[in-house]
Amino acid sequence: MSTAIYPGSFDPITYGHLDIIERSARFFDRLIVAVLSNPQKQPLFTAEERVEMIRDSVKHISNVEVENFQGLLVDFARLKKARIIIKGLRAVSDFEYELQMALMNKKLDDDIETFFMMTSAKYSYLSSSVVKEVARFGGCIRNLVPPVVENHLKQKLISLESKSTK
Ligand code: PNS
Repeated sequence: MSTAIYPGSFDPITYGHLDIIERSARFFDRLIVAVLSNPQKQPLFTAEERVEMIRDSVKHISNVEVENFQGLLVDFARLKKARIIIKGLRAVSDFEYELQMALMNKKLDDDIETFFMMTSAKYSYLSSSVVKEVARFGGCIRNLVPPVVENHLKQKLISLESKSTK
């Protein structure tokens, strides 16, 4: 059985991530979307919230599972008997960081390979960060994220705002 891992912080999942999930899931028996911590980022959503939103967004794809993991990606891959890591590339600007991670993961475990997939052109500008910024200033995010994310994001921003004014 072929298993691949699609890791990320998914804070929150966007249609760009979903595009990579839908396209890559066709090539494996099982695709595990892994919500991991990126030490360089302070997440808006908890890991449980992110997992829940991804599960709701991928429920139409039968061979996709969603899990949260604390620790090294290669340890999670070994635990799941997965030898392939899927990464999406939007533009040249993603390349340097992704190359560094792929090489480090290879150094940590030589049996695990990273496969890069180009994001569809229509999502090449999209990132979780820009979605959060647009939402924060009241812009429309309807065509950028699944409906469940749009709702959660609005609720989260309202609750943060009410906390900050107390
Ligand atoms: O969506 P992101 O934030 O670009 O995802 C980055 C992520 C979470 C995949 C990366 O930070 C990661 O793999 N974190 C787990 C810790 C780890 O294995 N680090 C070593 C890889 S260099």
